[in-house]
Amino acid sequence: MNKIIACFCTVCLWLLISGCKKEHEQSDLNTRIENKINQLLVQMTLDEKIGQMTQINGFDERTSPETDSLIKAGMVGSILNVVDVKEINRMQKIAVEESRLGIPVLFARDVIHGFRTIFPIPLGQAATWNPELVEKGAEVSAIEARSAGIRWTFAPIIDVTRDPRWGRVAECYGEDTHLTSVLGRSAIKGFQGKNLAGKYSLISCPKHFAAYGAAEGGRDYHTVAVPENDLRDVHLPPFKACLDEGAITIMSAFNEVNGIPATGNHFLLQTILRDEWNFKGLVVSDWSSVSQLVVHGYAENNKEAARKAIHAGVDMEMASTTYANYIEKLLDEGTLTMEQIDEAVRRILRVKYMAGLFEDPYTNPKDYPAMLSEKHKMVALEMAEQSIVLLKNKDNVLPLKKENTKVAVIGPLAESPHDQLGSWIFDGNKEDAITPLSAIKSYASEQNVYFARGMEISRTMDQKGFPAAMAAARKSDVVLLFIGEESILSGESHCRADINLPGVQEELVKELSKTGKPVIGIIMAGRPLTIETSLPYLDAVLYAWQPGTMAGPAIINILYGEESPSGKLPITFPRVVGQIPVYYNQKNSGKPASDDTWERMYDIPAEAPQLSIGNTNHYIDYGFEPLFPFGYGLSYTQFKYTDIKASSEKINPGETITISATLTNTGKYEGTEVAQLYIRDLVGSRTRPVRELKGFQRITLAPGTSKQVEFTLHTDDLAFFNDKMKRVTEPGTFHAWIGGDSKADLKTEFIVIE
Ligand code: GLC
Repeated sequence: MNKIIACFCTVCLWLLISGCKKEHEQSDLNTRIENKINQLLVQMTLDEKIGQMTQINGFDERTSPETDSLIKAGMVGSILNVVDVKEINRMQKIAVEESRLGIPVLFARDVIHGFRTIFPIPLGQAATWNPELVEKGAEVSAIEARSAGIRWTFAPIIDVTRDPRWGRVAECYGEDTHLTSVLGRSAIKGFQGKNLAGKYSLISCPKHFAAYGAAEGGRDYHTVAVPENDLRDVHLPPFKACLDEGAITIMSAFNEVNGIPATGNHFLLQTILRDEWNFKGLVVSDWSSVSQLVVHGYAENNKEAARKAIHAGVDMEMASTTYANYIEKLLDEGTLTMEQIDEAVRRILRVKYMAGLFEDPYTNPKDYPAMLSEKHKMVALEMAEQSIVLLKNKDNVLPLKKENTKVAVIGPLAESPHDQLGSWIFDGNKEDAITPLSAIKSYASEQNVYFARGMEISRTMDQKGFPAAMAAARKSDVVLLFIGEESILSGESHCRADINLPGVQEELVKELSKTGKPVIGIIMAGRPLTIETSLPYLDAVLYAWQPGTMAGPAIINILYGEESPSGKLPITFPRVVGQIPVYYNQKNSGKPASDDTWERMYDIPAEAPQLSIGNTNHYIDYGFEPLFPFGYGLSYTQFKYTDIKASSEKINPGETITISATLTNTGKYEGTEVAQLYIRDLVGSRTRPVRELKGFQRITLAPGTSKQVEFTLHTDDLAFFNDKMKRVTEPGTFHAWIGGDSKADLKTEFIVIE
């Protein structure tokens, strides 16, 4: 016994020493970096300091001669959009070996959902509810980007949005703060690895700070008016999570927040980011968002824009040149101080030192695996498979049987390698993309596959292709209909006021249903689409988002049951665009609608008395329930949740509680379920949402087996910013649900006591 105790103590002592040693090494490294920064800073001229604060837009091919001379003069801190590793090394050589102080240039690129191997769009990645897989995807992206000489990506996008009209919903992780925070952390871990100076590490840049996803009307760059409590409860936590995970750069947003543009917003960039969160990294503006302070009507001219942005805390200016043009004048007139400039430069140099750029400024492509390797493609395939959400499966028409099944492959997105990649794919090639048509021809024997496009593109307005599509359908046993949006219909500034299927796709659905053959809709889009009117004509629906390079094999594997669908919606699907904003974690209001079975508007009798149809918060034409709720997704098998319980009835502040339930696979296929934990704080000093996601787990079960699902919550997980703007967990009763989506009805409760 004594030996065991002695051994235990030795291990603890070792852990303690190694932990302290690691901490000591880290603080020693920090001290060394700060000393180097100070030594460099005192040598720098004003021009060289301004140079560090300037990020210029490079060019995909050879840069202009003046860029070389600017680099040589130490006037360029960072360059984005040069991706030729030879060119990058050539320019870096000028900076390191020919400029006066040899400060390396930080080369950047938007590596949003893959570099050469393209992964599902972030909204699709969120549908996997798989943090480990999102991390692996970011890791692959980092390796490929680093092999091209890129050191910094402007990702992850962790804007929370509840508006699918907004084009950039495609780039986000959806409507929920917790899911976005967890996946944002995963992306940071994947991009940066354990050692920011490692050769596979890519500096991340959570964006867009802040509340960019809350733009009025879902119109990109538009006004954001959000109460500070909601800013702090909904939009800021994912950024704090990413900084806690080790992000050392952050991007200021285009939009204004409550009247002050984010890029000139001292409350956001100084009070929150620096004073409250103690962020020591750098803030980079979005593309010309500094000079846009003039357009916003927040700065008289570019000189004032530069002053306001620097004063607020933007350290590096992307694309526009107000810093280069006006910092010296602002210093001369005394409206900026050299301390402010030095602080910005200090942060930039700190990032470069922490990323190992001084020690290791060049890239040898031979140090990296090939782009688009089989291993990378397998990660992309797994993520694409898990991103697919099964929304409907009437009479279990899926999975398909492979043997002797004649298949009609129809639709504008069956063979559209460009569109399946999604938006923000600067370095992805459509030639690499495996389309659904090519995948099914390899999977099923080609003579059993009949292809007819039906429509040239998703926006086609004529029905010229319908006869050939109908003919293909008639020859087949089942119709696979690939519809949705071309990638240009979402992404930056590509917002839609009507989010129906574009073109005559709905007409094509209805026509094909007349053949009497089962019609399986596979929808690829950068956002939720209002597909309610098409649903009755589809026997099954797979929502595949934009799945990337491996879209084809992933969709085929799910269709034929090689993999069971496990995706869950990261965003609510409205029935019509008029329901927006519609999201799960809404407030209850004083007159909540509770029964969606009331009469529809056209059933209301003429001259009906005003109070005859109830007075609760619903639409008389579209009720209040969405088409599909947040967290929803079917499987080929069925799951059941039973025996929910809380580990205790009451907990004190600072304690934890475990909520558990039994999950059973009651179907006949193996399947993976994303079990979700929701809570509700029944009474607060400010009203609380009717549900809040606080945990989720992917669980794979064989048919007929069960597993205990457990979630442990700390009272701090229940905190929110109260009416005094303090982050607190208030005492009171909480409800807790465990289930397969945000409408879970298996409930328990517990009390947090004073
Ligand atoms: C764009 C985007 C931002 C991107 C930047 C650089 O306008 O808003 O997300 O990182 O410019 O391409």
